[in-house]
Amino acid sequence: MSHRLPDIAEHHTGLDAFRDFEHRGWETLATPYHHVWGHVTGAFVPPLLAALGSIEHRDLLDVATGPGYVARDARKLGATVTAIDFSAAMIRQASRLHPFIRFEVGDAHSLRFPDGSFDAVVSNFGMQHFSDPGRVLSEFARVLRPGGICAFTIWAGNDVNCAGDVLDRALALEAEGQTAVPVGPNYHQLTDTEARRDRLRHAGFEECQEASSLVTLPWSLTHVDDLFNAEIQGSVRSGARLREQTTEVQARIRTSMATMIAERFSIVGGGYELPMAAQIIVGRLS
Ligand SMILES: C[S@@+](CC[C@H](N)C(=O)[O-])C[C@H]1O[C@@H](n2cnc3c(N)ncnc32)[C@H](O)[C@@H]1O
Repeated sequence: MSHRLPDIAEHHTGLDAFRDFEHRGWETLATPYHHVWGHVTGAFVPPLLAALGSIEHRDLLDVATGPGYVARDARKLGATVTAIDFSAAMIRQASRLHPFIRFEVGDAHSLRFPDGSFDAVVSNFGMQHFSDPGRVLSEFARVLRPGGICAFTIWAGNDVNCAGDVLDRALALEAEGQTAVPVGPNYHQLTDTEARRDRLRHAGFEECQEASSLVTLPWSLTHVDDLFNAEIQGSVRSGARLREQTTEVQARIRTSMATMIAERFSIVGGGYELPMAAQIIVGRLS
């Protein structure tokens, strides 16, 4: 079932195509995402919430909640949690997994909440999927109370996040044909310190350098193809680039990724451990 997106006045039409593409993708990938990515992205929730300081008795909004990992952990820490995602399929899944939390369908670019509704706004790996991250940050600022705090994770650049490097190298080597994936914002735009500071300031935030950090957590693969499988089964943007390839080309990409992983990430005693690196960014209303 496809949920109709709310209209976003003044939204850039070129980016609407990307937002619609993301929305269609997440509507179909909610269940596989939870199975193939949930243990990876969910592992970053404790350090992300720790970066906020105490959230006990605080009103917290989890944006792009997906299956609800931030919402779940924030509630355990004593926050009063509201969580939104623009995918109705994700919201159904989150509600099933965590029945005591308030989940709503909503778009990060136009939050339905009045000004000054929350003490904290959080997003775990949502930012790199938004068609207009600057606008989303302005929305975070608007719904926060004075002195409020926002925190979000993004995958680090490929120089430190090896999984992104393995995927992009294999695609560059083997992928064929023009892509039908619509052009979206630069995936790594917020990894750049200066660009990020400008974006945050424009929205009204000052980055808290002492709370922001680079966090690397190991993903112990059960099989050398786990990363390829997670990308093709449970990712929207990179997964689409894989899904649009022929079976033969997919097999070559799979082999290329497996070779790189075996060469770079084999561990003593067998198996493979991928160091997954994400930046935790914390901003306070200035
Ligand atoms: C990579 S998943 C992250 C899910 C979850 N936060 C986690 O920790 O795994 C990205 C999520 O962003 C949601 N999303 C993408 N664009 C959105 C938007 N404009 N508004 C609200 N949610 C959005 C998707 O539906 C998806 O659930």
